[in-house]
Amino acid sequence: MAAPLLIYFFSGTGNARNVAHWFAETATGRDIPAKMIDIAGTDRKNIAPPPPGSLVGFVSPTHGFNYPPAMMYFIFRFPLSRGNRAFLMNTRAGMKLSKWFVPGLSGIALWLSAIVLLLKGYRIVGMRSIDLPSNWISFHPGVKEKVVESIYAHCKRITVTFAGKILSGKKVYTAFRDIIQDLLISPVSIGYFFVGRFILAKSFYATDACDKCDLCINSCPVKAIITVDHRPFWSYRCESCMRCMNSCPKRAIETSHGYIIGIMCLLNIWIMMWFWQLVSRFITIPEGNGWVETLLTITRWGITFAVMVISYRIYHYLLRIPGIRQLFYYTSITRYRFWRRYKPSGTMISRLS
Ligand SMILES: Cc1cc2nc3c(=O)[nH]c(=O)nc-3n(C[C@H](O)[C@H](O)[C@H](O)COP(=O)(O)O)c2cc1C
Ligand code: SF4
Ligand code: SF4
Repeated sequence: MAAPLLIYFFSGTGNARNVAHWFAETATGRDIPAKMIDIAGTDRKNIAPPPPGSLVGFVSPTHGFNYPPAMMYFIFRFPLSRGNRAFLMNTRAGMKLSKWFVPGLSGIALWLSAIVLLLKGYRIVGMRSIDLPSNWISFHPGVKEKVVESIYAHCKRITVTFAGKILSGKKVYTAFRDIIQDLLISPVSIGYFFVGRFILAKSFYATDACDKCDLCINSCPVKAIITVDHRPFWSYRCESCMRCMNSCPKRAIETSHGYIIGIMCLLNIWIMMWFWQLVSRFITIPEGNGWVETLLTITRWGITFAVMVISYRIYHYLLRIPGIRQLFYYTSITRYRFWRRYKPSGTMISRLS
């Protein structure tokens, strides 16, 4: 009997979940017992070790040129190998221009997790990115249904071929093709870790269309939405996975571009200028004294993050005032009808909840 397969996945809008499903389906088609485990529903502090000799897979979207923190945290906590083989997959922001399928960018997503698993004793037998449609609708309208179907059909073929090779005992390292571009963009992934969590994830809000059904609260994979002042409030646990925004039945969740640009960017530029002006008035930084500059830079960033935390609270409070709520609403590009929500092919997002 073949060694069992366990696939651990994290998915916001269904892409990574579908990839995990196609892989598992290929395995069961070969009489290999396969199990899919959604890491969102597991106790990450007590992960059951995989059976000795089993094949383990990790599938997750790419967020800011890395796996999302939830997946990284899971891999860091994952038990040591007991003679296991492992493969890693990431879904990326694929696009289609005319007939051409355009890939996304992985950054350190596969590399960092491969290093961690290698250190834990796993034998990495496969690394592959799958370019399913981008779900990042805070930045662009959802991909059209016909294009989604076409990208999905293309990616399913790629996944099934990859799965077939891994399940026959071969090693497939397609990710090595992207190593140069991945290394070049790797510094951005560190920046995203902070910007994504402290700015982008703090741009969601619920409009007056919200009927308080709590679907977003219950379906969030990391339970990041809480109720404050009778309205959904996005906490710092949010992974920006886009599930809530894409699945709200009332289309009531928007990204506040007005808030991001107005409060976050302009306010921060102003703080930056004010801070350095204040510093130069009282301190003369001696030439070549790098550590003083480093200390001041850390202080400046500390102030910036404190301002971000406070400004989101104020922003949420201001949303109670109808006139201000309208101002944020009219400066959210996502509110316009042409700004489609993203629906993955085959899997209804609501099934993920
Ligand atoms: C916040 C955020 C950041 C993203 N960053 C990247 C990225 O760095 N590179 C990339 O190729 N795709 C990126 N994407 C696109 C997703 O990785 C891609 O759409 C993925 O297939 C979504 O999978 P899911 O449906 O399982 O959540 C990003 C999407 C979001 C929402
Ligand atoms: S899913 Fe939409 S309508 Fe339901 S509580 Fe959340 S924002 Fe409101
Ligand atoms: S709050 Fe929304 S975007 Fe953030 S992790 Fe939860 S479902 Fe995803």
